[in-house]
Amino acid sequence: MRLLKGFKVSALVAMAVPALLVLTAITTFADASPARTPLPGDPNKGGTLYGQNCATCHGVNLEGNIGPALNPIFKLPGVTDPLDPDFLIQIITNGRKHQAGDPGTVDMPAKGGNANLTPQDVRDLAAYVIQQNQLPPGSAPLPPGELAKRTILWVFIGIAAMVFVTFLLAQYNMRWIARRAAARHK
Ligand code: HEC
Repeated sequence: MRLLKGFKVSALVAMAVPALLVLTAITTFADASPARTPLPGDPNKGGTLYGQNCATCHGVNLEGNIGPALNPIFKLPGVTDPLDPDFLIQIITNGRKHQAGDPGTVDMPAKGGNANLTPQDVRDLAAYVIQQNQLPPGSAPLPPGELAKRTILWVFIGIAAMVFVTFLLAQYNMRWIARRAAARHK
């Protein structure tokens, strides 16, 4: 009974090592990827253009007004991925007629009604919308120094955990050897 209990605990702890390593890898990997979707343009320029051409209908903070919210982006009926750059470039360039099931009552005008927007402007606007949706509210992307610090922290945690587990297993092993020795002496 005691042996079974000991085995369970150590097996559990042993499984925690790969689990922790995988977790470490995932966190590091997720942090290291600079952007989940490559941005189709310059989000900073897009932000300026957005304020000039789109904010009246979609809200200063993309929260929506007579147009749907753009952050978090509203999923219009029939649209699979509203953050797909191709979809965004298409809808900003051509606009979209209000359709049954859409929120509100008005149409999205082509280029927000500003025919002077160039294809590059449209790409910058799409980049801005994607970037805003990717940032958790109120946070900036990790600077490289911070990223390195986190990676080091996770590696350290991983190593500490492995040392701890090795210690536990050694303890268990020693008890097991002692028990065997005692049994042989009987
Ligand atoms: C006159 C108001 C108006 C202006 C100006 C406007 N939009 Fe829209 N926009 C809309 C409406 C209304 C819809 C939803 C159309 C529908 O019902 O299908 C929409 C839809 C969109 C969508 C799709 C939203 C989604 O949830 O998938 C995007 C992206 C978008 N607009 C971007 C822009 C950008 C960028 C600009 C500025 C260049 C802009 N809009 C200017 C009214 C506007």
